[in-house]
Amino acid sequence: MARTIIIETAGGPENMKLADLSVGDPGPGEIRIRHMACGLNFIDVYQRTGLYPLELPHALGMEAAGIVEAVGEGVTHLKEGDRAAYASMPPGAYSEARVMPAAQVCPLPDEISFEEAASIMLQGMTVEYLFHRTTPIAKGDSVLFHAAAGGVGLLACQWARSEGIELIGTAGSDEKCALAKEAGAAHVINYSKNDFVEEVKGITGGAGVDVVMDGVGKDTFDGSLDCLKPLGMMISFGNASGPVPPVNLLTLAQKGSLKMTRATLFTHLADHAKCQEMAKHLFSKVISGDVRVNIGQRFPLERIADAHKALEARQTTGSTIITL
Ligand SMILES: NC(=O)c1ccc[n+]([C@@H]2O[C@H](COP(=O)([O-])OP(=O)(O)OC[C@H]3O[C@@H](n4cnc5c(N)ncnc54)[C@H](OP(=O)(O)O)[C@@H]3O)[C@@H](O)[C@H]2O)c1
Repeated sequence: MARTIIIETAGGPENMKLADLSVGDPGPGEIRIRHMACGLNFIDVYQRTGLYPLELPHALGMEAAGIVEAVGEGVTHLKEGDRAAYASMPPGAYSEARVMPAAQVCPLPDEISFEEAASIMLQGMTVEYLFHRTTPIAKGDSVLFHAAAGGVGLLACQWARSEGIELIGTAGSDEKCALAKEAGAAHVINYSKNDFVEEVKGITGGAGVDVVMDGVGKDTFDGSLDCLKPLGMMISFGNASGPVPPVNLLTLAQKGSLKMTRATLFTHLADHAKCQEMAKHLFSKVISGDVRVNIGQRFPLERIADAHKALEARQTTGSTIITL
């Protein structure tokens, strides 16, 4: 049996319930993993509220680290006793143990703790694909990154600094701006107090940035387009403030032949070899010291509702760990 957070109906944080579920044995292509720590991500909120619908009832949680207890037929990259971590479908990581597909589970180097792994797998591999697999970004290029003191944000600031990329970070308070700056943002903008479009124009001498990475969504989308240079690239990758309404393609022409993608990590992770390569790249950045893990807060599994409330209320910084 394993304590597991489930939802029976989509809705508020109070809809999450702690259940005792039997775990069972792995089938072909699966493993059983005993979790040591789980991660909290905004996608968990979208799945809980029904913005990203799940077949209900369903367990929640997309990221964890732990020890492999058993492997099913055909699994060759993991064995019983291995340390491992993942960001993977299907949801179910808010649990003490689970059976799951093995393909997206990655061997975890000894240098990285379970808590560190549970805080970087989803947000760190997101940063990996944003900077390396979405659009060409060269040393010296400028990137506007919203919510730069969040989980993805603080990792992005450090990643950009290590690659010589000039990251302009936005955040909702002066304290958060200071965190983003310390993590490597070349410039920071408190977008609760200041018009970020005007600020970006000022910082770039009116030119705009090469790339925008926007996980905030509805509230920042229009302004983000106004921050781009002609031929610039808009990467929309989240909806923390709500989903972006339908876009008129002509807007992209009028604002200077802009390019745009709505990117998602799970497209990249779908390929087993690519997923393992992305995880190795992320681990190497952490082990080299280029990227430091930022665990801003911890909540025990039974307080998962408080964790969701804090994330949605913009009260968290860096990554959040769910302890077991
Ligand atoms: N597509 C993908 O592959 C992918 C993968 C991972 C994450 N994401 C997305 O990336 C974004 C960041 O994820 P995360 O888990 O690291 O979360 P996070 O950045 O730690 O938290 C979200 C942050 O968004 C900002 N925000 C602005 N308006 C908000 C609002 N109305 N409600 C709540 N937050 C608001 C807040 O920072 P300020 O107070 O500083 O504004 C808040 O702290 C999310 O949109 C997530 O869905 C996408």
